[in-house]
Amino acid sequence: MSTSRRDVLVFGASAFALGASGCAILRGGAVHPQWKASQASLVGDTLTVPLADVVAVGPGKVLEVRLGPSHKDLLLSPRADGGVNVVTGACPHNGCIVDFDPVKNDWACPCHESRFTLEGKVTGGPAKKNLKVPASRVEGDALVVDLSSVRA
Ligand code: FES
Repeated sequence: MSTSRRDVLVFGASAFALGASGCAILRGGAVHPQWKASQASLVGDTLTVPLADVVAVGPGKVLEVRLGPSHKDLLLSPRADGGVNVVTGACPHNGCIVDFDPVKNDWACPCHESRFTLEGKVTGGPAKKNLKVPASRVEGDALVVDLSSVRA
């Protein structure tokens, strides 16, 4: 899949509002660096993340965005082409946090090996539902995500 910075894909996955080490124990999934949304970055259903903070994790790595009680948490994975893959983080099977697989170019759940396309479509079980993918775009030096489809 080839997309420009303006065609940023946003994949979503819900997660619980717990610390990173607690997440690893309670959710059994991948642990990622975290970015916590502030009042300035989350206005209604619109999230604005500085692109530099996303790119800093590196291609193939994942930044977990904590959104508090109003919306499901997101995973952002910068691509080499300047775009960003975005999904809600929680696997629809049992809630483990999925991880980006840069070799297969898809999302994988570390708990029971469910797999999802970049667009969030489940391709391998035991998960039977897709990850959610909120609309997003790059505006200047920021990633802007429409969270209306991932309200908690
Ligand atoms: S929690 Fe993801 S496959 Fe079971």
